[in-house]
This record gives sequence, C-alpha cells and structure tokens, in this order.
Amino acid sequence: MSQMRWFSCGEDAVPPGEAWLVARERERLARMRFTKRRSEYLLRRCAGKRAIAAALDLAPEAATLGRIAMLNAPGGAPYAEVDGAPAGFDVSLTDRAGQAVALLGEPGSMPSGSLGIDLEIVETRSAGFVADFLTPPEQQWVYAERERAGVDGWDAAANLIWSAKEAALKVLRVGLRADTRSVVVSVHPVDREDGWGRLAIAAAGGATFPGWWRRDGAFLLTMATRLPVDPPGLLPGSADLAGAVPVHSWLANPLHH
Ligand SMILES: CC(C)(COP(=O)(O)OP(=O)(O)OC[C@H]1O[C@@H](n2cnc3c(N)ncnc32)[C@H](O)[C@@H]1OP(=O)(O)O)[C@@H](O)C(=O)NCCC(=O)NCCS
Repeated sequence: MSQMRWFSCGEDAVPPGEAWLVARERERLARMRFTKRRSEYLLRRCAGKRAIAAALDLAPEAATLGRIAMLNAPGGAPYAEVDGAPAGFDVSLTDRAGQAVALLGEPGSMPSGSLGIDLEIVETRSAGFVADFLTPPEQQWVYAERERAGVDGWDAAANLIWSAKEAALKVLRVGLRADTRSVVVSVHPVDREDGWGRLAIAAAGGATFPGWWRRDGAFLLTMATRLPVDPPGLLPGSADLAGAVPVHSWLANPLHH
C-alpha cells in the first residue's frame, strides 16, 4: 500500500449546520464574513474529515465528523485531531471551484509536514501570467505545450506549473508568502495506468521535491513530498473528480448574513 491516500468531495457532501465542526473550527468560521471563504473553509474541512473517517473505516455521519478536527498551525498549515488527540495522519488540504481534496500520509510513514497538495482547474492563463510567475525553463515548457497541444495545452501547462508550485510551497509551509519563482517545476508525461505522472520541484538551496500530478477532466491535481513515495491510493467514498463540474456557487450570495 502507498504511504499516502487521497480523497475528493464536492459541495454536495458538506453536511448542513455546524454540529460536524469542533469548537475551534466554529470559532475560525465565525470570523469569516465572505461566503467564498466560508464555503471553501467548510469544503476543505469536509474533505479532510471524510478522508480520515474513510482511513479509519468510520461511517461519515455528522457525529463522527464532529470527532475529527482539521486545525491550523500559526502559519496556516493544517493538522488533524481525533477526539482531541493527534490523529497520526499527516494532512494537506486544497479546494478549487466547488471540489476539495485531502491528502493523508499514513501514520508513522513519514516525518510530519512532508506533503503538500493543490487542486486547480484548466482555466485561461495570459502570456503576462506566464511571464510574471513562471521561471524561464517553465515558460519554455508552456510554450512547447502550446506548440504540441494548442490552447488547451498552454492552459493545462500553465495551471499545472502553478499548482505544483503551490503544492511545494505547502511542503515548505510557506504558501504564497514565497516568490513563486523561488521553486522550479519540471513535469513528466503520464506513463502509468492509474493516471499519475511524475513531477519534480527544485527549491532554493538545492533541495528537490518529488511529486505527482494528474488531470481529471477540468481539474488538475498536484502533490509534492519531501521524500520519494508512490502516488497515493484513492480512499473509499471519494467523489469522482474526473466527472465533477467546476462551480462557483458563492457568486449568488457573496456576503454571509
Ligand atoms: C497555502 C496557500 C498558498 C494556499 O492557497 P490556495 O491555493 O488559494 O488555497 P488551497 O485551497 O489550495 O489551500 C488552502 C489550504 O492550504 C493550507 N495551508 C495554508 N497555509 C499553509 C502553509 N503555510 N503551509 C502548508 N499548508 C498551508 C491550509 O490547509 C488551507 O486550508 P484551511 O485554511 O482551510 O486549512 C495560501 O493560503 C497561502 O499563501 N498562505 C500563506 C499566507 C497567508 O495568507 N496566511 C494566512 C493564514 S495564517
């Protein structure tokens, strides 16, 4: 079995009410005014809690999810508790356009803080975006992908590089406080039946993080790890990302009342 497992869910899986949150999660939610931030926070909690429930073979009912907490260290990095004690799993969370993904590191399989995951959609990216946020070798690859696969190739490549940078910056625990050009992504084509392709991210100071990526329909998923590991297995009960339609439901009601 891989040392990592992943789980995806959509907004339809988020339980109503707040009984499935622990007090500290409810406190953080109470400070958020904007519907987008609130719904994304809840969606990420839902993915993380359901992932741990699935890994522990627990039914994902609200009372069970309420025993699992997705909390944040001061810099923002997530960690999980079950019944108020460390869950043992390493965890990374991401969401985009109505879908969230949680990545779990199996207890004891890696030092804590060794993984990062990021979800993006294949969306239009301008030449300015590529010039401003990507490094010269990354820009070259995006231009080559446009030669090879047209506009979709350009957009997929630009978003994939961006996503892998975010995954690596989560491993480094710095997030977007860092310059996106401080890490350099190289992408290998998918050559496995399970849909995962390799990538590598070179960070300042000579460290290189291995990682994996996949394209599922409109979505791109990337992950980075400190040490080489097999791609994650899919946890039972996960949604099918390939069939998911990106949604922006918060636009109907941008302020929380
Ligand atoms: C990490 C970051 C790049 C992710 O942004 P994003 O791609 O828009 O959002 P994603 O949905 O992919 O990821 C969000 C999750 O990243 C995780 N995360 C946040 N900061 C992190 C960090 N420093 N290291 C690792 N993971 C982090 C959290 O789990 C967060 O979800 P949560 O707050 O609900 O737990 C961004 O949040 C960031 O730059 N954070 C650092 C600066 C900042 O604004 N901090 C404020 C919190 S103290």
